[in-house]
Amino acid sequence: MEARSASEREALLRAAAPLIELALAEDIGTGDVTTETTLSPESQVHGYIVAKASGIIAGLPVAEMVFRYVASTVRFIARVGEGEEVSPGTLIAEVTGPAHAVLAAERTALNFLQRMSGVATLTRCFVDAVACTATTILDTRKTIPGWRALDKYAVRMGGGANHRMGLYDMILIKDNHVAAAGGIRLAIERARAAHPHLPIEVEVRNLEELQEALAITPPVDRILLDNMSVEQMRQAVSIAAGRVPLEASGGITLGRAVEIAETGVDYISVGALTHSAAALDISMELATAHRPPTPSERSTRIAEIKARLGRQVLILAHHYQRDEIIAHADVIGDSLELARQAARSDAAVIVFCGVHFMAETSAILARPGQDVVMPDPAAGCYLANTATLDAVQSAWERLAEVFGDAERVFTPVTYINSSAALKAFCGCHGGLVCTSSNAARVLHAALEQRERVFFFPDQHLGRNTARRMGIAPEEILLWSRGHPPSAEAIRKAKVVLWPGACNVHQRFRPQDVLAVRRQFPDVRILVHPECKQEVVALADDTGSTRHIIEQVQAAAPGTRWAIGTEARLVQRLQRQHPEQQIMLLSEAPPFCRTMGQTTAEKLLQLLEALARGERPHRITVDQEIAHWARIALERMLAL
Ligand code: 13P
Ligand code: SF4
Repeated sequence: MEARSASEREALLRAAAPLIELALAEDIGTGDVTTETTLSPESQVHGYIVAKASGIIAGLPVAEMVFRYVASTVRFIARVGEGEEVSPGTLIAEVTGPAHAVLAAERTALNFLQRMSGVATLTRCFVDAVACTATTILDTRKTIPGWRALDKYAVRMGGGANHRMGLYDMILIKDNHVAAAGGIRLAIERARAAHPHLPIEVEVRNLEELQEALAITPPVDRILLDNMSVEQMRQAVSIAAGRVPLEASGGITLGRAVEIAETGVDYISVGALTHSAAALDISMELATAHRPPTPSERSTRIAEIKARLGRQVLILAHHYQRDEIIAHADVIGDSLELARQAARSDAAVIVFCGVHFMAETSAILARPGQDVVMPDPAAGCYLANTATLDAVQSAWERLAEVFGDAERVFTPVTYINSSAALKAFCGCHGGLVCTSSNAARVLHAALEQRERVFFFPDQHLGRNTARRMGIAPEEILLWSRGHPPSAEAIRKAKVVLWPGACNVHQRFRPQDVLAVRRQFPDVRILVHPECKQEVVALADDTGSTRHIIEQVQAAAPGTRWAIGTEARLVQRLQRQHPEQQIMLLSEAPPFCRTMGQTTAEKLLQLLEALARGERPHRITVDQEIAHWARIALERMLAL
């Protein structure tokens, strides 16, 4: 990300500079009369910028610029990254410097940070809501006057994409233009003749206008479906049949976004992202005698307790964990490796720093008497949560209706990112578990056993693996929860995919690959198989977390990489391999929110409790479920 994020930061600060000047002038005016009269000019302060609510951070470079604008001696240290999720109490940044400057700049800096983080947070809500579909969330021009670049930057940090920046960089033909020009065709012809290199989008209000717009040759770049009903949009998707990308627009709310995305539209533009985002609650507290421990004090305390607990406690951390956790881990690994290490260890307590399904897997494989605990047991996995036992069971029943007996025809295969109940479902129906490292081997074995596979919950891992094995697209069926497929479609399918997806990996888009390649023709693009097939198809290599790490470790110095996986891992690889040019594949760093829920503070609390002889946040699995889930896991391990 180095070069790209540096230029993005520069562009942001160029746009922010005049706004900062204006904002400081309106706030400070002729001087901060309160601070100037109550505090000596020599006094120094140390402030903690802390989140008061959960959300996505955007605008730290702008906040820093505000402080440094007032006094260049202020030191600003960001403690989280742009695009990173925070929860109440998360330390966002520390500010040190002359009291007069820090206090005079505080409100303005927070105003920028709160507003931009609010936009990023609302954007992420929309992006997450449609993560199981292929739809991209776009912003609009409904931005605060003068703030266009900042608002649009915040949308990117939230994981959304930008629509046109202004009236100058894209042609968008609306009904007024059509009426004035005398028809869609004429309007397009004129615009195209005047600006042959600009993309053209045309707005349609009904299906007749859509047909008219689709008939234009060469085709326009995008068609905007203005204020259509969900049913009309579904018909529009079927009429367009992929010939021109479609954008849904008009009155989009969070509640409607999912059903609109499920119609198959390519884009949804949401004015609310920038016109209705509430500021994220963030405040600055000055250091006092009762200040919270600093990150380094907390780290020292964790190390002390850990040393005291000795070999009875083993701390495991997944590669996507925060650095403050990785620093204390006995073992760092991917999900399977961690579960295996746990079972091999003779520690009485396994402290699992990862997400819930991983700790559950570890608890299933643990030796008798071993306890698995999590610093935050509420850290789930978005992907795992897309498939519940009930929903999978009802799909299984539908398969049984078509074939008489689903188990005779289908091997159920669950990705390890799933609940213990789904692993048990596979165990007791002759199926097994897979990971991103062994998905092809598992799918082969499953298809040798029975003629078809029912794969859940990640549609992308399933599709990418099946395609690599040479299974034709017509033989791959994506399940739909709302509209179960017809018997005919089911009979044609060799692989039935659950419509789940990871909201982190799903965010990489083919445009990201194309943009990086344009800028760096020598780049090697390496992506995780939880990414969409269109992204995998354009990448140079695809593989599991372990594969990604191994490729980077083995590469020659100077190799340039764009990596499509979780941001904390990629940022760590950047630091560990300064001899290589490593960047993230997307502009906005794709952090796994739930992996970030485990903080040093929670780890410290857990270790303190263990030192008192308590066993909080123990992960337990019902015996019957654990029995069948273990069978499904052992079938995988035996391959
Ligand atoms: P690993 O199995 O490679 O650890 O990946 C788990 C995961 O959650 C990827 O997003
Ligand atoms: Fe789950 Fe995706 Fe996070 Fe992995 S990155 S733990 S699949 S949400």
